[in-house]
Amino acid sequence: SLDPTDTGFTETNFADLATDDRVDGSLYTDPDMFEAELERIFYRTWVWVAHESEIPEAGSYKMATIGRQPVIVNRDRKGNFNVLLNRCRHRGASVCEVPKGKANGFTCPYHSWSYALDGRLRGIPYPDGYDEDLDKKDLPLQSLRVESYAGMIFASFNPDVEPLDDFLGDAKVWIDLFMKQGAGYPIKTQGEHCFRFRGNWKIQLENTTDGYHFPIVHRSWMSSVDAETADMLSFMTDDNAVTHALGNGHSVAIMVPEHVDLDHDDGTEKIQARFDHIVEELSKTMPADQVRRIVRSMHGAGFNLNIFPNVAMSMSFFRVLRPIAVDETEIRHIALGMDGGPEIVNRERLRIHEHFQGPFGFGSPDDSEAWDRVQRGSRGAPGMPIMVNRGLGREALDSDGHRTSHVTDETGMREAYAMWKRMMTDEH
Ligand code: FES
Ligand code: FE
Repeated sequence: SLDPTDTGFTETNFADLATDDRVDGSLYTDPDMFEAELERIFYRTWVWVAHESEIPEAGSYKMATIGRQPVIVNRDRKGNFNVLLNRCRHRGASVCEVPKGKANGFTCPYHSWSYALDGRLRGIPYPDGYDEDLDKKDLPLQSLRVESYAGMIFASFNPDVEPLDDFLGDAKVWIDLFMKQGAGYPIKTQGEHCFRFRGNWKIQLENTTDGYHFPIVHRSWMSSVDAETADMLSFMTDDNAVTHALGNGHSVAIMVPEHVDLDHDDGTEKIQARFDHIVEELSKTMPADQVRRIVRSMHGAGFNLNIFPNVAMSMSFFRVLRPIAVDETEIRHIALGMDGGPEIVNRERLRIHEHFQGPFGFGSPDDSEAWDRVQRGSRGAPGMPIMVNRGLGREALDSDGHRTSHVTDETGMREAYAMWKRMMTDEH
C-alpha cells in the first residue's frame, strides 16, 4: 500500500511480505516481526560465533551472542570447540562476563556452582541442602551444536540443523579463496571494534553486496586514496564485476575481479609501487615470489562475501552483525592479519583497515549514517515497499547455475530475502 496511514504488517503472512522484487517496509520496523525473526532464523540456522584464531589454545574462550542469547565459545583440552549457553543452571546468572580470555572452567559468581569447559557441572557448594536425587549430570550448561569450516566457527540452537557443509554449500569455495590472503600463513584476527547503529539488522545484511552505493556513499573515501586504488575500485563500468547468488541466502559481490585469485599476477606492479618500502624490507629475507604474494594480499580479497544471516567477509576483515532490537543493530569489525607473517605487513594491514573501517575511518561511518537514514525514512509510510529490483531484468545464470548480475545490482539482496522468506514460512 502507498497509503502513508497504513501501518503495514498486521498479521503473520510472511510469504506476501517478500516477493521477487520488493519487501514490505514492516520488515524494518515491526517489533513482532523482529521477535519472529529471532525464533525462525537466529535460533534455527547456523550463526557465526568465532574464528579459531580467537580461541587458540586449550581453555581459550570468548563471549558471543546468538540473537538475544549469551553464549561462551571455547576450546577444551581435547581441542574441541564448545558453544555453551552463558546461563547458570541454578538461578540463571551469567557464569562469564569477561569478553575473552583463558579459563579452566566457569564458576557462577552468585552461589559458586562451577562448570567445566565442556559445560559439565563440577561442583555445588554446601550440597547438603539438596536431596540425594539431584544429579550433577543432569545440570550442565546447555551445549549448542557447533561445527567449523576453514577456521570459521558456527553454532546453532537447533539440534536438527543441517550439516554446516550443506548450509554453506557454494559459499565454501569463496571462503577458501578469502583465506588465501594469508599468503601462505594462516589468517588470524588482529583486534576488533564494535558499534551500534539505529537500524534494522537486514539493512546491514543488504549492504554487504550493495555495489550500487559504493561510489556514492564512499565518495569521501575515494577522494582520500591514491589514483591507483581509486582506479582499482571503479567497478561501475567493469562488466566482470558481478554478484553471484550462492544459495541459502549467501552471495558474493566481486568488486575487483583481478584480485579474486591472489595467486594471479595481473596488476601486481601497481600494488608493489604503492608499498615499495615494504617490498624493499621483505626482499632482504624473502624470495621475490613470496614478496609478491604477501604484498598482493595486503589489499585483501577483491570481493565481499555475505554469509546469511550474520557474517560478512570483505577486504581484510570480518563484519559480524547482532540484532539488538527491530531498530538497533550491533556491528563488529574484526581486522585480519597473517599468523606468523611479517610484522611490517600486519601493521600496514591494520592501517588500511582503519582508513576505511575504523571508527574514524572514511568508509564505515558513512555507511552507518546511510543505514540510520534508511531506518528513519522507512518509519514514514510503513506500508510502502522497499525496492530490491535493480538488475532483475539482466540477471542470468552462470556456469554453476547461480543467478548473476552486475555488481551494482540487487541480486545478493534478493538471495538473502529468498532465504528469509523460506525460513520465515517453513513450518518447523
Ligand atoms: Fe548460579 Fe546460583 S545462580 S550458582
Ligand atoms: Fe559501504
